[in-house]
Formats: sequence, C-alpha cells, structure tokens
Amino acid sequence: MIPALMPTYNRADLAFERGDGAWLWTTDGRRFLDFGSGIATASIGHGHPHLVQAIAEQAARVMHTSNLYRIPQAERLAQRLVDTSFADSVFFGNSGAEANEGMIKAVRKYHAENGQPERNVTICFEGAFHGRTLATLAATGNEKYLAGFGPPMPGFKHIPFGNMNALRDAIDGTTAAVMVEPIQGEGGVRPASLQYLRDLRAACDEFGILLALDEVQTGMGRSGKLWAHQWAGIEPDVMSSAKGIGGGFPLGAILAKEKVAKHLKAGTHGSTYGGNPLACAAGNAVLDVILGEGFLNHVDRVARHLWRGLLELAGRHPTVIEGIQGAGLLLGIRLLPEVSNGEAQSAAAAEGLLTVAAGMNVLRLAPPLVITEAEADEALRLLDRAMRRITPSQAKDAAK
Ligand SMILES: Cc1ncc(COP(=O)(O)O)c(C=O)c1O
Repeated sequence: MIPALMPTYNRADLAFERGDGAWLWTTDGRRFLDFGSGIATASIGHGHPHLVQAIAEQAARVMHTSNLYRIPQAERLAQRLVDTSFADSVFFGNSGAEANEGMIKAVRKYHAENGQPERNVTICFEGAFHGRTLATLAATGNEKYLAGFGPPMPGFKHIPFGNMNALRDAIDGTTAAVMVEPIQGEGGVRPASLQYLRDLRAACDEFGILLALDEVQTGMGRSGKLWAHQWAGIEPDVMSSAKGIGGGFPLGAILAKEKVAKHLKAGTHGSTYGGNPLACAAGNAVLDVILGEGFLNHVDRVARHLWRGLLELAGRHPTVIEGIQGAGLLLGIRLLPEVSNGEAQSAAAAEGLLTVAAGMNVLRLAPPLVITEAEADEALRLLDRAMRRITPSQAKDAAK
C-alpha cells in the first residue's frame, strides 16, 4: 500500500528530533555529525539562537500579509542583498526551483522588451541541476528526471560544461542567456574554473546575451565568499539564490541588475508566500551571521583545513577514492567505479556522519558554515572509518 507521504524520495531510516550547530539527534537518541546540512541549506547550523529568536519573534507578531502590502522585512533584506552584491533589485520566492523559474522568465522578458522576443533560448550545461518544475527540469536536461513528464518545455539547449568552443557554436540569434552553476552541485560537485566563468562573462558581453548564475547551492557564503562568482571577479546579470539564504526556512531570491529587473513590472511575476515577513525575518537573521565580522574568513579557513584533510584521506584510501573536488564548504569525494557513492554514504552514516550523494559517483560534503576545525577533524576521522568499511576486499590490506 502506498505510504501517506508520497514516496518521491529514497529516505534513510533516520528521523531527527533535535539539532545543535553541526549535530543532529535522532528520535531514538543517536547523535550524528551533519555534513549534509539538509542538502546545503542549514547554513548557520541547527538551532542557531539568533535565527531561532528572529523566527519566534516574527511569528508571534505577524507571519504573512501578502505582497498586496509593503513588507519592511523584505525591503530590508533586499536592500542588504543589493548593498553586498552586483544586484540592483531582488525578488523573493520560496525555493531554488522557483527562483530559477523566475530567472528564466526574467531573461526572456529582457529580450522581449528590448525588441528581440526571438531571443528566448537559455543555454545550459550537461550535469546541471536547476530544479523540478517543468521549466527548471528542462533547464536541468537530465533524461532520468525528465522521463515520463511529457514534452520538455522548449527554450533550452545543453552543451558540455567547461568547453568554450561548444558555447560559441551554440550561440545564435535565438540565444537569451547562459545559465550556469559556478560549482555544479547535484551534478557531482564540479567547479567551473575561474577562467571559464570569466570567459562565459566575456562571451555573453560579446554576443549581447545575459549571464544567469544559479547560486542556489553555492551562494550565501558556502564558497568562502558571499557568492561563489566573486572568486572569479565577475558579475552576472541575474542570479538565483535559495537553500542557505533562509538557513532552513524556505526562502529563495532572484537578484538582478536594473537592466533586467526593470522589466518585471507590477503584474508580470508573483508568489503568494514570496518574501513574507516570517521568511524575511529568517533571511535577515541568517545574513546577520554570515556578514558578521570574520565569518567568511572562518568559512575559508575551515574549508581549506578540510580540503587538506580530505587529500590525506584520499592518499590513505587509494582503492576507494579517486579524487577530491569542489570549493569552500561544498566538497566532493569522487569514488572509484568499484565503490558506489550510495555505499559510501551508508558507511559514513553507520559511523555517525551525514553526507549527501551527488552525480558522477561523488560523496558530497556540505556542512553548516559554522563548523569548527575540530568538527572537520571529527568528520575526517569518521570518513576514514567509513572508507575502511567499504575498501574493496582484495585491497583491504593495502589501505591499512
Ligand atoms: C543549483 C541548484 N539549483 C536549484 C535547485 C532547486 O532548489 P529547490 O529544491 O529549492 O527547488 C537546487 C537543489 O538542489 C540546486 O542545487
């Protein structure tokens, strides 16, 4: 019989009732070190007192009023995001897919308003993940996710990630934008090189198309800068954010330059919940922490510490680990074909460490940004034990 909760996920048999920082406790009292953060979302950890207080206080005052009225919490959050980014204006929604959906609309609208409605095709990349709505599924382009859901929405083209020649070949008079994750998250924690991001920016400028970045997973400090594209010294025209921006409270955003945002006039786009007082109270509290003195330096420092430890781990387990990839606190352990990332994820969980599988047989680490170096060391210790569990039997001795 079908469960009451629709079976769209393969769930591990773990239910958590409490969290504190990077730690989670199950209903039966077991403790886990959370290096998944609810898929890169609990950015400032579980139960952060500042976030808890902000949500509780706002919930007690007023949660939701609708966008028929001014929302001071949203105005403040938008202003702070504008002040700290390339953007001139922000639209709030509730999820990554919703932010991307709006971003796709925004790039189409930009060209339509500039007299080129035929420019409505967004170039996306093999290995991308942009969400599960019909448009973001088409942008994702993964056959496995598209299967059975009817004709994919038109207006998307896919090219290999990292190949500028393929991009130049793909651009034509119908191209509206290039939409890209600075680090492909679900696709296998694959970073675009900083030079590739710069080249994408230059190509967009050359051909008069928009650079649309999906920073749903990479943004809000995860890379050690507020936005991952800042490492490349470039600015997009429009960008999506979600996941970490609400710290666990559902919140998403489209950040845009004025030339794009000005066409999204009243009546062109909307969302009932989008940017409501409660969500924006959460967003402001998360931003207080992430913009706090020294916070991003902390992320960078602990990320480099973890990276070094992972390289050592890979050196100790050459029969399991093929390589380490990613950036900041979005890191991937790429496993050899003989072991599966599902197996590695289960082995890590059996040792008390939560991780998330990603494409290309990668085990993804996306801990809360507040982890300490001691917690990174603890994760490395648990990973070492997990890797021993899954060492292919004929090579067990070599790994000792
Ligand atoms: C890069 C990226 N974009 C979009 C999404 C979709 O976000 P959501 O699940 O909040 O709709 C995800 C989710 O994993 C993502 O990683």
